[in-house]
Amino acid sequence: MDTKVWRIDQITKETDQAIEEASALLEQNQVVAFPTETVYGLGANAKEADAVDKIFRAKGRPSDNPLIVHIADRNQVDEYVTEVPEVAEKLLAAFTPGPLTLILKSNGTIAENVTAGLPSIGVRIPDHPVAQALLRACRLPLAAPSANKSGRPSPTTAEHVYEDLQGRIAGLLDGGPTGVGVESTVVDCTGVMPIILRPGGVTREQLEEVVGSVMVDPALASAGGDLPEDGAVDKPRAPGMKYTHYAPEAPMWLVDGDPSFMQEQIDVHLQAGDKVGIIASEELAAGLNADHINVCGSRDNLNEVAAHLYDALRSFKKSDVDIILCETFPETGVGHAIMNRLQKAATKKINQF
Ligand code: TXA
Ligand code: MG
Repeated sequence: MDTKVWRIDQITKETDQAIEEASALLEQNQVVAFPTETVYGLGANAKEADAVDKIFRAKGRPSDNPLIVHIADRNQVDEYVTEVPEVAEKLLAAFTPGPLTLILKSNGTIAENVTAGLPSIGVRIPDHPVAQALLRACRLPLAAPSANKSGRPSPTTAEHVYEDLQGRIAGLLDGGPTGVGVESTVVDCTGVMPIILRPGGVTREQLEEVVGSVMVDPALASAGGDLPEDGAVDKPRAPGMKYTHYAPEAPMWLVDGDPSFMQEQIDVHLQAGDKVGIIASEELAAGLNADHINVCGSRDNLNEVAAHLYDALRSFKKSDVDIILCETFPETGVGHAIMNRLQKAATKKINQF
């Protein structure tokens, strides 16, 4: 299949046609990738199982991993859920449109393969002009996972999507690089207390300012904790959190220590004849000697690190490096999401202290 690509720098009268064409493909139960403020999504009509099935096939995604349903605004939430509890209402008011997904009780309107048979549904209102224009043009709820091949880092540019899914999807709206860089925060609002199932663009601190205490799914690796060993953690409540994710093309180790410790680790690999790739902040990178260094931002600005994270993971090709060594970041604010993704992407962690 040919993948039609439309470039949209800004929503104007001239871009209406691209949005209309993309929208027509969605109405014909085809899949179309589009930018959101977090990462690119791969959208299909969430009411049609056949359309949704094409998402799973294009990505190679396991069918027991449910998809998030994207809608244009708060008014549409009630069409798909049995109730909107008070805490969900507050979160919707404070953070949507924005990088937040709420798990609510499904009323069964959505195709069954979207929710992988669960009684709940993930609802998200994206804050991106192209996503909004598309949702409003097609007037459909769009099931949309991140638009990467399953297991790969999520796409933050249209080039990333093209690299993974070219020829496997009908269309791709290229809206340039996304802003947030890590996916939405998934918050389960079906119980007594809201629970973060996946840390993301809205931080725990921000959520707690609005609704008070918020729990974190115990199955997520604890703050500052080591990589979970097989079987050592509880079953995650967001099914997707149990799969291998975000994998770069070479093995990646997390290195938690000062610059001299990082340099020692680099030297060990260089002496063994390995080609070494580095992902580091500008502060750490300044003192390092290695062949390939990818600077992903400043330790003083974790939003910048989040925005560049997946591009950094994708930047190392098998042919260029044998191993990637990556700095660790503080688990505050969006650092919680950054470290969650890095721990999933890494095969090993080395600590200086
Ligand atoms: O920022 C984002 O959320 C992006 C953009 C495209 O919107 N989407 C995204 O989708 O990251 P995906 O499919 O890659 O991740 C969805 C996560 C998975 O971990 C999935 O298991 C969880 O949300 N999820 C979806 N529906 C759920 C449900 N009903 N109950 C629990 N977890 C759910
Ligand atoms: Mg994903």
